[in-house]
Amino acid sequence: MIDFNKFAKYSKPGPRYTSYPTALEFNESFDDKAYIKALQRHTKLPLSLYVHLPFCKSACYFCGCSVIYTSKEYKKVEYIGYLKKELDLIKQYIDTNREVLQFHFGGGTPTFYNAKELEDVIKLIYNTFGNFSKSAEISCEIDPRFFSEEQMRVLKDYGFNRLSFGVQDFDSKVQQAIHRIQPISIVETAINLARKYGINCINFDLIYGLPNQTLESFKTTLNDVLKLEPTRLAIFNYAHVPWIKKTMRKIDEKMLPSPQEKLEILKYTINYLTSNDYKMIGMDHFALESDELYQASLKGELKRNFQGYTAKKHTQTIGLGLTSIGEGHDYYVQNYKDYEAYKKALDSNRLPIQRGIQLKGEDNLRKNIIMKLMNNFILDIKHIENKFNINFKEHFKDNLQKLDEYINLGLVSIDDDYIKITPTGAMLVRNIVMVFDEYLVSQDGRFSKTV
Ligand SMILES: C[S@@+](CC[C@H](N)C(=O)[O-])C[C@H]1O[C@@H](n2cnc3c(N)ncnc32)[C@H](O)[C@@H]1O
Ligand code: SF4
Repeated sequence: MIDFNKFAKYSKPGPRYTSYPTALEFNESFDDKAYIKALQRHTKLPLSLYVHLPFCKSACYFCGCSVIYTSKEYKKVEYIGYLKKELDLIKQYIDTNREVLQFHFGGGTPTFYNAKELEDVIKLIYNTFGNFSKSAEISCEIDPRFFSEEQMRVLKDYGFNRLSFGVQDFDSKVQQAIHRIQPISIVETAINLARKYGINCINFDLIYGLPNQTLESFKTTLNDVLKLEPTRLAIFNYAHVPWIKKTMRKIDEKMLPSPQEKLEILKYTINYLTSNDYKMIGMDHFALESDELYQASLKGELKRNFQGYTAKKHTQTIGLGLTSIGEGHDYYVQNYKDYEAYKKALDSNRLPIQRGIQLKGEDNLRKNIIMKLMNNFILDIKHIENKFNINFKEHFKDNLQKLDEYINLGLVSIDDDYIKITPTGAMLVRNIVMVFDEYLVSQDGRFSKTV
């Protein structure tokens, strides 16, 4: 029996580790020139393309994404022009015939673009990168409130084979509090449309920790979700950062569930989904047993990048558009978040890089450890020792002392060969991997809470 009171104390600020080092360590000394050098150095890996389409019609109060709220048609069209400029620049520094394994549209709301505009953006990508793998993952985030058959047809025509729907929560009180009214019928219509066009890989994004949410209300949401049979589920922990995102200030903090309630929701969610044919495949993520992600997780081969989880080989991610993040094996790079700065750079024929980081050896080592544990809940110590030529237990003596706390709670086990995170430990995986983060001391208080 789990005593949640014991774990509630772990509700403290902490990174989600979509990157290591985290974005707080990115700095402006890694500029467009540093990025060009990195592009010229990295010539081998297959590519993963991320295209950020930032526009949304109205604000969902919980939203932590990089969004521009607008209803102005010309802004959307202007943005496509800038994407073209960016692609024209980037193709000078990269072999565009390298194989593309992934292509993802994120946002914002990509389907805020109408079918014709969506086609224009997709064509820009296909006209630049010519070598898409036959098994490429081609995916798009869909806001079910803005999704038409014309848009679906375009996505299908251009090979999209995975769609991710923003569902969040079906409870009407929660929907009111987050300013996103989206009855089940809207989601059902959107899913049916996707299935009609042969899209079998369907992900739902849900969030726990939203205002007005209770264990009971989330049970009902989960029950309704399963009736729609998504193949994958991302169940995000609500990241409440009103000091960064102004719209979150509209959320009444008194209505947020407590850390203890959130842990109860998470525990219930894990039990409920795993007894209904879904497997937990990494932090916040579940997939049906038949899904390739589950198969990869069994082999400890699941990877995660800014597009989410993948069973594919390592890739180099090229980020395109406002705020997007790119990644190579030894660097991260991020485009401007400010639209005017993004446009200004491109108008003067510069890649619109705001910041990034060049990883040093120790970063690479710790990145490997943190990502393996986050994605697969298991670390092969011998593999790390051979790859980085270290004695693991000596090198991480201080870090491993901090791990003792979690070992004593039965959340982690360690022997000579493996560190393993237990199913209960998986709920606190962010806290557990934080013991390997070299930068945390200077960053306290700048992240959302881990629970
Ligand atoms: C970039 S959004 C795009 C999805 C699409 N625009 C929509 O809303 O349907 C991707 C997902 O991030 C998640 N998300 C956004 N803000 C979040 C936050 N503050 N905490 C946790 N998850 C969040 C939501 O589940 C959302 O569906
Ligand atoms: S959750 Fe989606 S639709 Fe809502 S504001 Fe964020 S990106 Fe836009």
